[in-house]
Amino acid sequence: MLNRREFLTIAGAGGVVALAAGSLAVTPAGRFSEKEEQQMTYTAKDYGRLIGLAGFSETLLKNHFTLYQGYVTNTNKVLDTLAQMLKEGKTATPEYGELKRRLGWEFNGMRLHEYYFENLGGQGGLDANGKLGKKLAESFGSVEAWEKDFRATGAMRGIGWVVLYEDPANGRLINFWVNEHDVAHPAGGQPLLIMDVFEHAYMVDYGLKKADYIEAFFKAVNWKAVEARLK
Ligand SMILES: [Fe+2]
Repeated sequence: MLNRREFLTIAGAGGVVALAAGSLAVTPAGRFSEKEEQQMTYTAKDYGRLIGLAGFSETLLKNHFTLYQGYVTNTNKVLDTLAQMLKEGKTATPEYGELKRRLGWEFNGMRLHEYYFENLGGQGGLDANGKLGKKLAESFGSVEAWEKDFRATGAMRGIGWVVLYEDPANGRLINFWVNEHDVAHPAGGQPLLIMDVFEHAYMVDYGLKKADYIEAFFKAVNWKAVEARLK
């Protein structure tokens, strides 16, 4: 058994970690300072520039911004509570386990909305001869085939997201259905084009006509922002 002097201390990303006789604990010295914690707190971004976007009413957008802000607030809350529970040695509790599971949902709810709002607000269509257009054609045979698949994925029953992902391993582009916010993301994937297909994203303006929303979405895509995400 290791004695006190034999403890192996290593510096990790989260601070100083002590390994002793199979146990692992973050030392008080390894905690983030209050200032560092404040800097790492997530802040909701302002997407007010999108008000007036064709095909998206002000009411729909403002409701959507409020929902997004809720994900930012909850991401911070979950992270703070988990950090507190770690400090208090409550990691072996069902509450800790449930909150850990919740983190991916809240975090992705926040981040996907940011990708979504940031790939809206453009004018003009996709340039099929540009970098993105060529990569889409390589992966799907043609830009038209990609678009057909993306729209069909969005038309599926259920709530979630359609995400055009780039696989950095080989550059292949693939449309993924992401259930809710957190299920079916490809590990290491680079998100390029994100479409919200939760009902709150379209029902205020389009009722059950999701295809009409998808049409409006395609007219509103900022293709420059999407292309800039390519690795
Ligand atoms: Fe949403």
